[in-house]
Amino acid sequence: PDTAALARAESLIRTIPDYPSPGIQFRDITPLLADAAALRAVTRALIEPFAAAFDVVGGIEARGFLLAGAIAAEAGVGLVPIRKAGKLPRPAASVSYALEYGEAAIEAHDDLAPGTRILLVDDVLATGGTIAAARELMTTLGAEVVGTTVLMELEALNGRALAGDVHALFVI
Ligand code: PRP
Repeated sequence: PDTAALARAESLIRTIPDYPSPGIQFRDITPLLADAAALRAVTRALIEPFAAAFDVVGGIEARGFLLAGAIAAEAGVGLVPIRKAGKLPRPAASVSYALEYGEAAIEAHDDLAPGTRILLVDDVLATGGTIAAARELMTTLGAEVVGTTVLMELEALNGRALAGDVHALFVI
């Protein structure tokens, strides 16, 4: 990996205190996304351990979509959107998971070819609930999850306990 380019990319992630609610430190990746060299460096580094091992990239709504689009173009693969509940027009599989307060569900169309090798991507691994649900969703659909890759891992939240092995570019 291009460590200098990645260090520069990481420096472009801004921390916004008390957003969207008091006590939350929001990690704003928009300056990184807006920088061509940084976006290219993270896109390449996100897929590096999985070279040629996946048929599609699964992007998790919403910020995972942004990285998934770049990965699909770089790797020459297709993209499967993993959406929040109620957004997809055709029959979809759904997996519910717990949030700090309440519940959420993610969905994907149920027409994936059996055995499709999918790489999951998201911006942040926090509690791991989202990625664990995405893995379960893809397995339910008959896909083979070859890995999970994220820009940032919030280490204190111990997301790997739920999400399993994850390739994380920046551990915060
Ligand atoms: C954020 C983030 C991950 C998820 C991580 O998504 O983009 O998808 O939370 O949290 P977890 O590891 O605790 O599950 P959010 O629901 O804020 O969606 P957004 O990308 O649409 O803003």
